[in-house]
Amino acid sequence: MNKNKYGQYMTPKIIADFMVSLANINLESRILEPSSGEGVFLNALKKQGYKQITAYEIDKSIIKNNNNVINESFISAKIAKGFDLIIGNPPYIRWKNLEQELKDELLNNVLWGKYCNSLCDYSSIFIIKAIELLRENGQLIFITPEYWINTTHSAILRNYMLDYGCFEEIYHFNETPIFAKATVSTIIFKFIKSSKKSNKKIKIAKFFKNKKINEDILKTQKSS
Ligand SMILES: C[S@@+](CC[C@H](N)C(=O)[O-])C[C@H]1O[C@@H](n2cnc3c(N)ncnc32)[C@H](O)[C@@H]1O
Repeated sequence: MNKNKYGQYMTPKIIADFMVSLANINLESRILEPSSGEGVFLNALKKQGYKQITAYEIDKSIIKNNNNVINESFISAKIAKGFDLIIGNPPYIRWKNLEQELKDELLNNVLWGKYCNSLCDYSSIFIIKAIELLRENGQLIFITPEYWINTTHSAILRNYMLDYGCFEEIYHFNETPIFAKATVSTIIFKFIKSSKKSNKKIKIAKFFKNKKINEDILKTQKSS
């Protein structure tokens, strides 16, 4: 049995607050957190006054009672489209490390069959399904490992994203430690779903210092 079969790496509160601050929406906007864990994004969103929040989490044992989270797999859940914002930290698990039941779910999934293969990891389907669920001009703000921005086998994912919209902002944290139990090079990206091609420049901020992240660093990243 895999010790962390669901890829549970909880996002620090300051990172969730930072990511919520990147959203350009209003208080009535429809928001989705597809893999809410202990609810750090839900708390950050509620603190800002957002009301229409839907959330999914596969592991009942970590859902906190005060957050109305649906205990169901985001991958198979039937969800009405049209979100203004989808935000979170999707689970990152390599295919070879996925439990058989999770592989079976992917093998039965139309989007996985169309855009992914066994070189993709679990987070790919969260990105693709999230984009499917956004409205035109809806925003996707995720924190993920950085590798898929560069690797050849993630070309299908990148091409899918460029067909359906554009990146607006990418924050590279490189080796900066962000998660307590994981040492992985991390990015935060903001992607806009759009059927129109955009010539707007992508804002790219890079942080190289191998130093614990804090609010001042995040403020500098945002204004740089
Ligand atoms: C990287 S953690 C992030 C949790 C939370 N969003 C945060 O940022 O602290 C990913 C979460 O996805 C959940 N998860 C894994 N597979 C899932 C699925 N198929 N549907 C919904 N949630 C899932 C895990 O249990 C875990 O809580």
